[in-house]
Amino acid sequence: MRPLVHVTRRLPEVVERQLAAHFDVVLNETDAPLDARALADALAGADALLCTVTDRLDGAVLRGAAPLRARILVNFGVGYNHIDVGAARERGLVVTNTPGVLTDDTADVALALMLMTARRLGEGERCVRAGAWTGWTPTQLLGMSLSGKTLGIVGFGRIGRAMARRAHFGLGMRVRYLSRTVRPDAIEVGATPSPSLEALLAESDVVSIHVPATPETRHLVDADALAHMRPHAILVNTSRGDLVDEAALVAALRAGTIAGAGLDVYEGEPRIHPELSGMENVVLLPHLGSATRETRRAMGERALANLVAFFDGREPPDRVA
Ligand code: DGY
Repeated sequence: MRPLVHVTRRLPEVVERQLAAHFDVVLNETDAPLDARALADALAGADALLCTVTDRLDGAVLRGAAPLRARILVNFGVGYNHIDVGAARERGLVVTNTPGVLTDDTADVALALMLMTARRLGEGERCVRAGAWTGWTPTQLLGMSLSGKTLGIVGFGRIGRAMARRAHFGLGMRVRYLSRTVRPDAIEVGATPSPSLEALLAESDVVSIHVPATPETRHLVDADALAHMRPHAILVNTSRGDLVDEAALVAALRAGTIAGAGLDVYEGEPRIHPELSGMENVVLLPHLGSATRETRRAMGERALANLVAFFDGREPPDRVA
């Protein structure tokens, strides 16, 4: 008998076809995010759960699920902060993710947010669409030039380094980074280390966040951190909303402590802080970092490789717990 995989959201057709070639599959025809009850039922009814960032697999769901049939949680995504890994381990569940395949696309979105915010491109686009553009003027929508400016990268993993490469070689920016580990290869992407978060924030014209969300990094950028940034500086976040204290960010933007923000992720996704939506100096995207046909297919293939290895009795290549 083939293992039964419960897939919590609709995936690109090509991925669903590949999954069905190897496993019996339960698809979520409505594509609506599953609530706690539905997740618990899926864990009790299938051998594997192929889940996404919209599935809140917290301690209550994982510990509460009656006898578990599931043996593995295969996350369709690199970030897995929506899974309580400790509770998964307690229940004997293996957890995997999809690293590596979404690096470039996510760095592209971080770069786009930096450009959009610094050059006020969203404001310009809204102006044209609203029919409010009356023609070129020497003073309309003046932004910040990026060439020669300093980009501070918080977290220097794959995506942080890809962002450094783009900013340094593509835009001529000076790049500083903060990382727990020494990165001898940083110089190859034009980056030099900063001694502390405070120092990085204080010397950067743009700060881009690339650390995973964990209990330790929650609200890494809080009111205190924002106070270290420069009044003309911009914050970019493509990692996870939890890393930034959104209320403090709104207060800093309102007070002019910083000049703008480019966000792809939010604390209460998909809820957006109502004040952020009303701010012209903020660019808001709907968690699009990995949203290309190529990358979503690659993420699916990676998820499939983990499932196949696990049910073949081999170590899944991207095991995180
Ligand atoms: C990721 O892979 O972490 C993306 O943010 C989607 O979950």
